[in-house]
Amino acid sequence: MGNKLIVGNWKMNGTLADNATLLAGLLNGLAADHPARVAVCAPAVYLQQLQSLLQGTPVAWGAQDVSSHERGAYTGEVSAAMLRDLACRYVIVGHSERRQYHGESDELVATKAQRALACGVTPIVCVGETLAQREAGQTDMVVKRQLASVIHTVGHCTSELVVAYEPVWAIGTGQTATPEMAQAVHAVLRAQIAAATSNSARVAILYGGSMNAANAAALLAQPDIDGGLIGGASLKAPDFLSIVGAAGAVH
Ligand code: 13P
Repeated sequence: MGNKLIVGNWKMNGTLADNATLLAGLLNGLAADHPARVAVCAPAVYLQQLQSLLQGTPVAWGAQDVSSHERGAYTGEVSAAMLRDLACRYVIVGHSERRQYHGESDELVATKAQRALACGVTPIVCVGETLAQREAGQTDMVVKRQLASVIHTVGHCTSELVVAYEPVWAIGTGQTATPEMAQAVHAVLRAQIAAATSNSARVAILYGGSMNAANAAALLAQPDIDGGLIGGASLKAPDFLSIVGAAGAVH
């Protein structure tokens, strides 16, 4: 695996003014030689702002969701081709908040990943277990089922994916998986990807769930943790920059 990949997921936050301030803080604070890859995923309405403020900078941008349809009469949806039009490098698919609040199935998530790949946008496929599933000893089974659906659908393009392990109980709760707990699941995912593609070393597996300036270094030091998907801490430039710094330090 090459440089660590640190992705901010702003979720449903931001204004034109706040985004401009946050991005200026990020761009000013990034060391010229920072060795991590960095991206931010914003609400769709702000993607054009990201394109205009981030083009030509080391920070890539992406969306938080994409339609499973190609085009046409799907009111309110945003297609993968539209994301490509705004030069998005990434799109998050299957975030637990979409699985939970919008009833997204493994099959729907897989179709979204396929749509993104077909347009040259890298899907960041999120998988993760609930607390009840972890306590029932189902963690490996759940994450493998979620990822298997995507691998089955995208086939030989599996090597183009980014995968994010986000335990649902750790998202926005301040409760982080220990580095050992996260590493154990990442190793399971790594093995599953390796069984599907000879190019598995290309696939970054990110950890997400209350990652912050204080715990990032220990998580990112794990052999199969290739980066982070950061929610709350991505909304404050100094916090996000500390995580990027930690990613550079363990490279
Ligand atoms: P938090 O970092 O706020 O826990 O969110 C994680 C997440 O869901 C990123 O996609």
